[in-house]
Amino acid sequence: AEHVVRRHDLAGLRVAVSAGGTREPIDPVRFIGNRSSGRQGLALAAAAAERGAEVVLVAAHVDRGLLAEAALPTAVRIVAAGTAAELGEAMRSAAVVADVIVMAAAVADYRVEGIAPRKLTKESAAGPAITLELVETDDIVAGLVRDRREGQTIVGFAAETPGDGEALIDRARRKAARKGVDLLAANEVGWERGFETDRNALVIVDVEGRVVAEPRGTKRDVAEAVWDAVVAVRS
Ligand code: CTP
Ligand code: CA
Repeated sequence: AEHVVRRHDLAGLRVAVSAGGTREPIDPVRFIGNRSSGRQGLALAAAAAERGAEVVLVAAHVDRGLLAEAALPTAVRIVAAGTAAELGEAMRSAAVVADVIVMAAAVADYRVEGIAPRKLTKESAAGPAITLELVETDDIVAGLVRDRREGQTIVGFAAETPGDGEALIDRARRKAARKGVDLLAANEVGWERGFETDRNALVIVDVEGRVVAEPRGTKRDVAEAVWDAVVAVRS
């Protein structure tokens, strides 16, 4: 699709965007992962570059075909990260010079404690069930907020499953406050929504809980709206 370059309003800014989903190894051949494709993060990186930013894209298991299809501008430098720990390290390193950080990646909340050095086998299991011990990963975005540089803008993303009666917006407000991010973009996901599609709908709230935008459209459309919100919050 063609995108009219309305402005060059991110010129001179360095931005770091994380995309995709981390994978936490169980043994040399297995992992715990999630359904994030990286499409929204790719759209964010492409939009930022076209609006003039210098972009570091920290990509966790983003499909090669998708990356190629995105035909990212040369202003985007791609760094691969596999696990939550690797993504954290890459983001902290990009954050040293970043003016804006957007955490669009789906980061594992838990990792496997005691990764098996060899493939687990049914023969080595004690019975018909096994137990994996999972421990919390570090909250990367919370750490970035804690170490935030002067003038740095930090944006979080949240994919929520509706159903317990609480509005998406209220959950987004609470999460924005808890994380201390300048902006939090929330969307609803489910078995049949949110993933592997080119469309998205977001509610973007600021740290005070104000709704600053509710874009819907292609992932590129909503990416543009996220950058509009970033520009607004920085001015
Ligand atoms: N995030 C992160 N590090 C983690 C987990 C999440 O930086 N270990 C980031 C995500 O990239 C996202 C934001 O935090 O930008 C919100 O993610 P979300 O999973 O919604 O938040 P959690 O605090 O993990 O809450 P939940 O229990 O709802 O998953
Ligand atoms: Ca989480």
